[in-house]
Amino acid sequence: MTLDNKISNLISLLGGTGQVAHHLNIKSSAISNWKKLNKIPKNKYNSLIELSNHLNIDINSFLNTNNLNTMNLNKNINVLLIICGGIAAYKSLEIIRLIKKTEIDLDIVMTKSAQQFITPLLVTSLNGKKCYVELFSVEDESKMNHIHLARKPDVILISPATANIMAKLACGIADDLASTLLLATDSKIILAPSMNPIMWNNIATQANYQTLVNRGVHFVDPEKGDMACGESGTGRLAEPKLIFNTLLSHLKKKNVLNNNLDGISVIVTAGPTIEDIDPVRFVSNKSSGKQGFSIASELADRGALVTLITGPVSIPLPKVNKIIHVKSAQEMFDKTFSELPTTIIICAAAVADWKLIPELNNSIIIDNNNKIKKLKNNNSILTFKTIENPDILASVAQTKERPKLVIGFSAETENIINNAKQKLISKKIDLIIANDVSENKVFGSDYNKVFLIDKDSCEEWDSQNKKNIAFKLADKINNLLS
Ligand code: C5P
Repeated sequence: MTLDNKISNLISLLGGTGQVAHHLNIKSSAISNWKKLNKIPKNKYNSLIELSNHLNIDINSFLNTNNLNTMNLNKNINVLLIICGGIAAYKSLEIIRLIKKTEIDLDIVMTKSAQQFITPLLVTSLNGKKCYVELFSVEDESKMNHIHLARKPDVILISPATANIMAKLACGIADDLASTLLLATDSKIILAPSMNPIMWNNIATQANYQTLVNRGVHFVDPEKGDMACGESGTGRLAEPKLIFNTLLSHLKKKNVLNNNLDGISVIVTAGPTIEDIDPVRFVSNKSSGKQGFSIASELADRGALVTLITGPVSIPLPKVNKIIHVKSAQEMFDKTFSELPTTIIICAAAVADWKLIPELNNSIIIDNNNKIKKLKNNNSILTFKTIENPDILASVAQTKERPKLVIGFSAETENIINNAKQKLISKKIDLIIANDVSENKVFGSDYNKVFLIDKDSCEEWDSQNKKNIAFKLADKINNLLS
């Protein structure tokens, strides 16, 4: 995207070359280069937007991205915002402001306790439309009954969401307008929780969180930091801009907003591979396939044509265009190459690095077709020769049919960032997602904590559900391609 000679001004606005380089964790010379070329690499847009949000500066006119006036509406879009009672209720005013800049039709419901923090009159005047507060209102019911209010929205956003509304939604309690609407809807629900850190970490809240995630509710997780109540920990409402962007991504996913992953071809590799030693024994690893499957599913939901190539796993299969089941690394290699060319490849599989070939020291030949027997002759020693498997990711990145975007994973137990960066360079890929797999923190778990590393920067994402990671990665891919 060309930026009409504005890059120098933009950098000055954000605090100058040194400041921007420091915040983006890149060299000042890179910024000087942007100024010279009057161009910013697209993969830096997100970091710049984050910095501008932090400084409260609107840079949309510079980046011409997320430009709400050019947003392509495929139909009349309706969003229902539910504001619950919490100190962060005032931040919902900023979310209303962001939504009002678009052509999205917005309805708003406030719970009783939300009205202790901000008034319905304020919300009504910002939205230019009546704000709903009561379940049993003769006047409201005659104009728009609450079932219609529940059925109308493309997405329901609850922000801030309290522990109380999470508990009610998880249990199916409908004792006020907000909770009744949530029970009567089949729209996508996004929750942006905000609460005291002890309430957030309470076993009941965490159990409700997990129940809701498993039912398909999307969370914009609360952030770590100092709370208004004076305590610190995880519980602070995510930034309104992030909540708003998540809302937009869901509208794109529903195809009511134009989605630039429509029709884009993607290969995702996932799960472990298995290397047979004999007909009953094998070597493999602990990969569950959950992260790769979440990514495949998320990209397919956003219109991408996804081919999932998976090793043996025991989790439900996602809805994607094509699923190819493989066992060994060599099979995964062959099937991956037979699916090229594609625009994107994401290698999330934990591919076995070696095949193990059994050998006996006393030149007795091992019969490959039968189970290896226990050794009766004490002079015999069974050993294994290793043969390295082909590196699928590195080979795809260096083939003539190289996808436009090559993304790999790096499971590490030490020096996570450095090791991952080395792999990014040696395998010649565009982005690597590194995670710490020591102490079984990741394999099989629903959660992951990752670093996203490209040649210029390293982003740290807090521990979160693997589905959330997939969601944010899809947003990132969207930005990298646009
Ligand atoms: O070198 P290492 O195995 O740590 O690299 C991890 C990344 O490389 C992952 O994205 C994995 O899917 C990919 N890989 C591969 N083929 C191999 C080994 C790893 O595609 N044989």
